[in-house]
Amino acid sequence: MADTDDLKDTHDYHLEIPQTAEPFPLKGCDNLDWGMKNRLSNIFSPATGRTVMLAVDHGYFMGPTTGLERIDVTIRPLLKYADTLMCTRGVLRALTPATFTRGISLRASGGPSILKELSDERIAVDIEDALRLNVSAMAVQVFIGGEHETQSIHNLTRLVDQGLRYGLPVLGVTAVGKELTRDAKYMRLATRICAELGATFVKTYFVSKGFETVTAACPVPIVIAGGKKLPEADALTMAYQAIDQGAAGVDMGRNIFQSDAPAAMIQAVGKVVHERFTPREAYDFYLALKNQA
Ligand code: 5RP
Repeated sequence: MADTDDLKDTHDYHLEIPQTAEPFPLKGCDNLDWGMKNRLSNIFSPATGRTVMLAVDHGYFMGPTTGLERIDVTIRPLLKYADTLMCTRGVLRALTPATFTRGISLRASGGPSILKELSDERIAVDIEDALRLNVSAMAVQVFIGGEHETQSIHNLTRLVDQGLRYGLPVLGVTAVGKELTRDAKYMRLATRICAELGATFVKTYFVSKGFETVTAACPVPIVIAGGKKLPEADALTMAYQAIDQGAAGVDMGRNIFQSDAPAAMIQAVGKVVHERFTPREAYDFYLALKNQA
């Protein structure tokens, strides 16, 4: 006889509405589907709601950028310190160990090289391949004010439609052409357009005046790119100010992999982003690790 003890009517049922999870720690993401939130949790630490993304996707238009000539040698030792790796599918398949279980933000737009008009991009990845690669987000460049602005917006909206179908977040990357002013007014415009058109989160550059207005006016999380290599203390200060003014993290490349001590630098950035080290504390931490090495 089957034991029916487990099936009996008990008085243990509780009539209250089941407890839902705590509020999702990312701005503007509460109404997203479970799969989308789960993938975002691979990118943004659930403990802090912030992320250190390591950007190594520069080769998709710049070729072997300084510091990325041998990604297997220079970048692999940094992976354990990154919450997320931002790269192309070429680098993912050829050089990234499949044992890497944190977030992947897959570069999903491309076309022109550094020798051509950069804004003339197309979607460069089929969503099926992004899913096959088990990535956590697709990243698409958006050139507001650029020659091919509309095409780049179209790339974003197509990926957003596909991403929503399968629960895959889209990172809108605001590109700044040589001719465009990098100020808060421009960044507000570019980031807000990306968010309004459905980007799940947005990457932009830090601006020293009025960055808090950029994060305030953007209804979804913002991460900052590092930009050109700065002295380490300045890059740590930039990361600190960005977080202080509402950014949810950094997506930093050259300021990490072109540093004199990339492993020390990425760990120091992590201290700023997740533990709110001051720039001074983070720089001392960087120097201590660098000297140990
Ligand atoms: C290239 C990118 C890069 O990921 C981005 O620029 C971050 O790298 P860096 O910190 O070196 O600027 O989007 O278009």
